[in-house]
Amino acid sequence: MTRKAAIIGGGVIGGGWAARFLLNGWDVAVADPDPEAGRKIGAVLENARHALPALYDRPLPAEGRLTVGLPLAEAVAGADWVQESVPERLAAKHAVFEAILAAAPESAVVASSTSGFKPSELNRTGDRVVVAHPFNPVYLLPLVEVVGAEARTAPAAEVLRGLGMLPLVLAREIDAHVADRLLEAVWREALWLVKDDIATTAEIDDAIRMGFGLRWAQMGLFETYRIAGGEAGMAHFLAQFGPALQWPWTKLTDVPDLDEALVAKIAAQSDAQSGARDVRALERLRDDNLVAILRALKRQDAAAGAVIAAHEATLPLPGTGPDGLPVMHALQVPPSWADYNGHMNEVHYLEAAGRAGDRLMVVLGADAAYVAGGRSYFTAESHVAYLSEVRIGTRLTVTTQALAGDGRKLHLFHRLWAEDGEAPRLAATVETMLLHVDLATRRVSHPSAGVAAAAQAMVADHERVPRPDRVLLGRRAG
Ligand SMILES: NC(=O)c1ccc[n+]([C@@H]2O[C@H](COP(=O)([O-])OP(=O)(O)OC[C@H]3O[C@@H](n4cnc5c(N)ncnc54)[C@H](O)[C@@H]3O)[C@@H](O)[C@H]2O)c1
Repeated sequence: MTRKAAIIGGGVIGGGWAARFLLNGWDVAVADPDPEAGRKIGAVLENARHALPALYDRPLPAEGRLTVGLPLAEAVAGADWVQESVPERLAAKHAVFEAILAAAPESAVVASSTSGFKPSELNRTGDRVVVAHPFNPVYLLPLVEVVGAEARTAPAAEVLRGLGMLPLVLAREIDAHVADRLLEAVWREALWLVKDDIATTAEIDDAIRMGFGLRWAQMGLFETYRIAGGEAGMAHFLAQFGPALQWPWTKLTDVPDLDEALVAKIAAQSDAQSGARDVRALERLRDDNLVAILRALKRQDAAAGAVIAAHEATLPLPGTGPDGLPVMHALQVPPSWADYNGHMNEVHYLEAAGRAGDRLMVVLGADAAYVAGGRSYFTAESHVAYLSEVRIGTRLTVTTQALAGDGRKLHLFHRLWAEDGEAPRLAATVETMLLHVDLATRRVSHPSAGVAAAAQAMVADHERVPRPDRVLLGRRAG
């Protein structure tokens, strides 16, 4: 049954939550008194549709239904999850939670996006409200800090994992949770550096993104410093750099006075740095970069990429494609696959077909364990036919027809189907010949009896679909 999320406050963060739930198949009802809320959420949703599905090599569930502009009591009626994202003022949050608790089902998770308040401040009685603090853009970044009573945070964390997020459940509540405490220390130092004319906003951003920012995205702080300690490890690192903490390198907790002059200086430097692009263009740039980074990390099964990989493993592939053959791969063409004219670059047709081939290997039983046992299929030859243009954001489905699978050869014909609103159309075909190899001798060999039987059964099954008109491979011997 479709689950329902109620989003109370549909600004930057509420809009991001709405997109995260909708694109994971939930129905979403938004309550926000702002008459512009629908338009603003529409803009966030447009960005999210462009980015989130492009992280996955499986289709996300069909989008849920969005309703905007409901009174709060109607929005939360029948909800499984209620997410409060109104401005960061405690009195406003108290009023909203009173209304939510009066109208929401007993079984619903009730969560706050608050960046700073603790559950003990949000709950005037009991422990019903938990903190679920996300990061912008909520539809792309996996982290959610979860704080509250254990009996409430455990089921909340389960739901968040189902949305492809990483719930970081804190042992104890503390002002501003974990991540914003770290960010505030960096932010305070950055403000001092601008105020004292040490560095401009652009130079500080370079200091982050050209160096430690790259390290942080994949290993964080402690693992990075462990490596910095060399073979002697963490204790050595602490002994070496620990004393520096006593030196007055940082401003500690001193906060620069954000007076008119400092605000004007930062704003002017920021305009010079980023003013050529409007905020929507900056969001697109941010999202496209994040998708490229996250996809790369997914390949490595590392950091946030591992979270996406684990979520992806729970998503089913569609059973059959437009031609009645099994779907072996499906994805939304990511921005990083673009060529100079906004099409999918030609090399990625082969990548999509290659992924379909990988999946087919698993179906045949020639999987990782089979390879570890010393046998594998190697690709000997591929032919790509580009039939119609594929744009970034298009949904691609790859079906695979096994044309021949006797003995040492496996002859496959992949069809890449594009969906962009119209009926699926054939965008490309990739014909591939694979040879079975003994990994010890590196010579062509016969597959195991099990794999051979599976290949033959697949070929026989696929004969129900007409053979492709143009087949280039398989006529030659050897
Ligand atoms: N902006 C961030 O980067 C960020 C990150 C994580 C968490 N948060 C937290 O998320 C919350 C919302 O922040 P934001 O940046 O989205 O703010 P925002 O100003 O963009 O959005 C707040 C929305 O709440 C609506 N609103 C006001 N009163 C309301 C009410 N009584 N009922 C329903 N809607 C109401 C407003 O019309 C507005 O659309 C805050 O608690 C903030 O600390 C923000």
